[in-house]
Amino acid sequence: MSIILGIDVGGSGIKGAPVDLEEGDFVTKRLRISTPEKSTPKNVAAVMAEIIEEFKDQIGDSPVGITIPAPVVHGRIPFIANLDQKWAGLEADKFLEDELGRPITLVNDADAAGLAEVHFGAAKGHPGLVIMTTLGTGIGTAIIYRGVLIPNAELGHIEMNGGDAEKQAASSIKDKEGLSYKKWAEERLQQYYSTLEMLFSPDLFVVGGGVSSDWEEFGPLLKLKTEIIPAKLRNRAGIIGAAIAAKDAAEHPDALAKKN
Ligand code: BGC
Repeated sequence: MSIILGIDVGGSGIKGAPVDLEEGDFVTKRLRISTPEKSTPKNVAAVMAEIIEEFKDQIGDSPVGITIPAPVVHGRIPFIANLDQKWAGLEADKFLEDELGRPITLVNDADAAGLAEVHFGAAKGHPGLVIMTTLGTGIGTAIIYRGVLIPNAELGHIEMNGGDAEKQAASSIKDKEGLSYKKWAEERLQQYYSTLEMLFSPDLFVVGGGVSSDWEEFGPLLKLKTEIIPAKLRNRAGIIGAAIAAKDAAEHPDALAKKN
């Protein structure tokens, strides 16, 4: 089972591609469909079904890996910040398996990106503690220690200046408030990464999300003891990580993460 379909669900687009897990890359060009304006589980599942249909000849009946911008606790979504609130409290893995008529593995979007960067990207084979952060609509985080993911770290929601960190430091906030890269880095990201550094003493920060392609504009401005580098897989990380998670779940069916 080395070709697996990965689907990455985001606030603006739902993207999918069959992934060759030997190579760590797409087999064919990805398909992107805009996230429905009303991003309910039903509407989002309908888009996933379209993506599966598109690639059905390449993936046979293998399980599909799917990301979601929320924690996934034994298949259930306890809360969600940036999609329709109907997702909150849903047994989402069962719901999606019923809607899509095939086995799926659901994984947090940042956890997927972190898995992909550790397997094939900027943190490949790292022997220590890596914190992956994705800067986008919100802030996603993944903690990976010696290649093993500690799932569902929600460090985008740590408290900063009495409020939610992602509401101050996500790249969507930079855009919304019209901050320059310099102001964003020095007044928002600096405090955010210094706080994570103090709390976790990681060996490496990897910074992903669309904005990481402008790394030179803000990355070098951050003053940290910890090495901090841009992600390598860019917008492929979520899809590739979803496929890694699906393969892992298929190979370890007794893993606690799948049990209720
Ligand atoms: C969610 C996380 C997610 C992140 C990035 C946050 O608001 O709580 O689960 O990883 O956004 O999408």
